Amino acid sequence: MDFAKYLKEYPDKDGKFGSYGGAYLPEELVPAMKDIEQAYLTICHSSQFINELRRIRKEFQGRPTPVYHCERLSRMIGNCQIYLKREDLNHSGAHKLNHCMGEGLLAKFMGKKRIIAETGAGQHGVALATAAAFFGLECTIYMGEVDIAKQAPNVARMRVLGANVVPVSRGLKTLKEAVDAAFEDYLANYKETIYCIGSVVGPHPFPMMVRDFQMVVGVEAREQFQEMMGFLPDVVTACVGGGSNSIGMFVPFLNDPVEIVGVEPLGRGKKMGDHAASMTYGSEGVMHGFNSIMLKDEKGEPAPVYSIASGLDYPSVGPEHAFLREVDRVKYEVATDEEAVDAFFKLSRYEGIIPALESSHAVAYAMRRAKEMNTGSILVNLSGRGDKDLDYVIEKYGYGEKYKDFK
Ligand SMILES: Cc1ncc(COP(=O)(O)O)c(C=O)c1O
Repeated sequence: MDFAKYLKEYPDKDGKFGSYGGAYLPEELVPAMKDIEQAYLTICHSSQFINELRRIRKEFQGRPTPVYHCERLSRMIGNCQIYLKREDLNHSGAHKLNHCMGEGLLAKFMGKKRIIAETGAGQHGVALATAAAFFGLECTIYMGEVDIAKQAPNVARMRVLGANVVPVSRGLKTLKEAVDAAFEDYLANYKETIYCIGSVVGPHPFPMMVRDFQMVVGVEAREQFQEMMGFLPDVVTACVGGGSNSIGMFVPFLNDPVEIVGVEPLGRGKKMGDHAASMTYGSEGVMHGFNSIMLKDEKGEPAPVYSIASGLDYPSVGPEHAFLREVDRVKYEVATDEEAVDAFFKLSRYEGIIPALESSHAVAYAMRRAKEMNTGSILVNLSGRGDKDLDYVIEKYGYGEKYKDFK
């Protein structure tokens, strides 16, 4: 496959990545999605829009975020060198603001008054509330009650930023139900509202738009690593929930001789309901308006999912991931809750960086892989910072006492 031409060819005009993607929508939403697609295709070729987004990224978000060499963590493991792309330093603490600022600009261009979204870990909600404050838009965020209890600091941040946070109490009370509720709101209010989906999921054009906005991560990281080292890393990796931070990191490396690995949450283990490793254990199916790989129960409905990381417990994954695995370009591995917590404390203690539990899955994989390789280099997308997870981790695991004795 010719990855040099990849962005021109994928998605195709129907929003498909091979057989994945598309737009499976109630009839009344079809024109609304077409309008969003048309508006996006107009502004993404406008120098005014591109310049405004560049200015926002530099002056408001603080981009570019740096690439950082984890010297002490690497030395503790062996001879392979681990590097981080520091999306935790992006304003509001995660990669999510990259697409929210783009979607805010789009909403303004389309004359919409209101933006809505779902959130799991609260990072997408905080990012969208930030964008709403910046652009002067109304904002409503749907969040499962379980996640509200786990991610209290982010709920407070959303409210301080002026967003209306709506608790979702049905089903498992986590991310999938929050998406269901946001879709219902959108269906009732699509004339004045844009549903800014929090990842590279949902109907076309969202997987494409969110990918395009997130590609700033991989474009910067590739250039920064090359400039630092004079060559490219051997392995590039990122955690995969819906798949936005990972797709943004991966696509700019597709044409390079670099191994690319997405890391899914294995939670408490392989049993259905104990994990959210959609690519690893799922099969093809349609959910939330798009066709991809999803975890299903016996009836073929979205299966119950779980992960310690609220931002990763979604029973499907962006269609581009399904396609990139099918064409054998990206591999998918897993990390358990325990491995993620181990990585959370090790990165904190060895490097002074407290990672989000989502990002800790990618760090855990990088640590495992670095031990096996014992040479070369691994670049990890550190998608977010862990302040939001502190209360939960301390309550369940203490202060990481067992990591105190390191050399
Ligand atoms: C810090 C962080 N990383 C990763 C994710 C997972 O989302 P995605 O797979 O779309 O990057 C989330 C979702 O909330 C998050 O908050």
